[in-house]
Amino acid sequence: MKYQKLIEASKRAKKYSYSPHSNFRVGAALLSKTGKIFTGCNIENSSYSLTICAERTAIFKAISEGQRKFRAIAISTDLKEIIPPCGACRQVLMDLAPEIDVILSGSGKKQIIIKLSELLPMPFDSSMLTNH
Ligand code: THU
Repeated sequence: MKYQKLIEASKRAKKYSYSPHSNFRVGAALLSKTGKIFTGCNIENSSYSLTICAERTAIFKAISEGQRKFRAIAISTDLKEIIPPCGACRQVLMDLAPEIDVILSGSGKKQIIIKLSELLPMPFDSSMLTNH
């Protein structure tokens, strides 16, 4: 698999998941066009809706460190089956990294690569903001 190193980084990132409420650990690893990897995990909050997903942790870390162009993001959970990113993460990724490959991997051997544009067809974007 083309993105094996990225998948492994997402699995390692999962170890830092702070998920005492759901016990659902998620890890993400985002590859920039400069070749750097930014990892993230889900971080839950006792006020549940303030929880942040692993994918957004990773991309916010990368943006805050000056990266703007990305190639791919790998996402891992403890489940055997692959888990796709939630709608909020699809929207955030689409704004900041519209062309990336999304690599989904289960805890077993199952892995797929899908374009973000396939996961979020007809996105809302900044070109639609009238005062932009
Ligand atoms: N979660 C993610 O980290 N990424 C997703 O794309 C889906 C959901 C997290 C949020 C929460 O901590 C837990 O998984 C259960 O929803």
